[in-house]
Amino acid sequence: MSILRARILGTGSALPEKSVANAELASRVDTSDEWITQRTGIRSRHIAGEGESTAGLALAAATQALKESGIGAAQVDAVIAATTTPDEIFPSVATRIQAGLGMTRGFAFDVQAVCSGFLYALTVADQFIRNGTARTVLVTGAETLSRIVDWTDRSTCILFGDGAGAVVLRAFEDEGSSSDRGILGSRLYSDGRMHDLLYAAGGPGSAGPKGAIKMQGREVFRHAVDEMAKVVDEVLTAGGFSRADLDWLVPHQANRRIIEATAQKLGLSMDKVVLTVDHHGNTSAASIPLALHEARARFRPGDLMVLEALGGGFTWGGVALRW
Ligand code: UT7
Repeated sequence: MSILRARILGTGSALPEKSVANAELASRVDTSDEWITQRTGIRSRHIAGEGESTAGLALAAATQALKESGIGAAQVDAVIAATTTPDEIFPSVATRIQAGLGMTRGFAFDVQAVCSGFLYALTVADQFIRNGTARTVLVTGAETLSRIVDWTDRSTCILFGDGAGAVVLRAFEDEGSSSDRGILGSRLYSDGRMHDLLYAAGGPGSAGPKGAIKMQGREVFRHAVDEMAKVVDEVLTAGGFSRADLDWLVPHQANRRIIEATAQKLGLSMDKVVLTVDHHGNTSAASIPLALHEARARFRPGDLMVLEALGGGFTWGGVALRW
């Protein structure tokens, strides 16, 4: 049976100019390079400066992804931007990207699912492609989390970074078998009862002031380790695959120890795991597309990979695709 599959044609990324090493944070709060490196695997992260914004970074990543794909903006049918730190309350970052690219057609909107945002956006884009609504979809993950971090809270301020990644998805007719290239399946979850473990209060609909990220790190860590290996197994099984078929794991980059524990549960050697947390920190919705872009030269056409993430909400999920 012939079906439409969403294939990644190209990727792009953009990072703020300034990279901040652990030592610089140790001069602001009571921490050390040694503690941050051992507990998180993070050595540095990029932090947006005055002239840099989520939409600006997303546009730069999108422009590069289109160029790599050999696709003109006029061919894009939809823009889906995953972010929790939009430049404005409205309109969406996606419409800013649309205007920035000079697009005069198609539709654009944002998806907010915090660190799982890129997987949610990718899954929505996949639905549009499979049902024939759109042939070419630009998906971005972009954040300036540094602007909602409490820079006096050592348990969170050392974790987060800013940046953007983008992919261009295009519809291809394929067989509908497990050897097809493109997105093969996904599983998305959320559980709003977990709100208090990770949130930033003070949205435009509340009476309170703009808040900062609050996290019960150890609890979030425990849930991430529990859920990530489970969701990877689920998307593999649903596609008719086993763990041994996996060429790459592309995890959300929150903490090296979470990633290592997930790989260990899956019996996966770390040379099959894409790691960027050491120089990006946790960039929320941007972390997976940034990792895809950075590792793309190592991927071979036909490689099977699973992308996975967990974040505030909680939201979590996994996407299986063949490169
Ligand atoms: O992307 C969304 C998902 N987010 C995550 O996945 C983050 C998940 N959580 C984590 O990555 C880890 O829990 C953290 C890195 C946030 C914390 O690591 P931990 O090993 O869970 O440490 P902890 O919170 O249990 O704290 C251990 C100790 C505490 O001191 P006491 O109470 O044992 O005396 C903290 O006060 O480490 C202390 N501590 C620090 N010390 C130096 C916390 N932050 C720091 C710091 N520098 N930056």
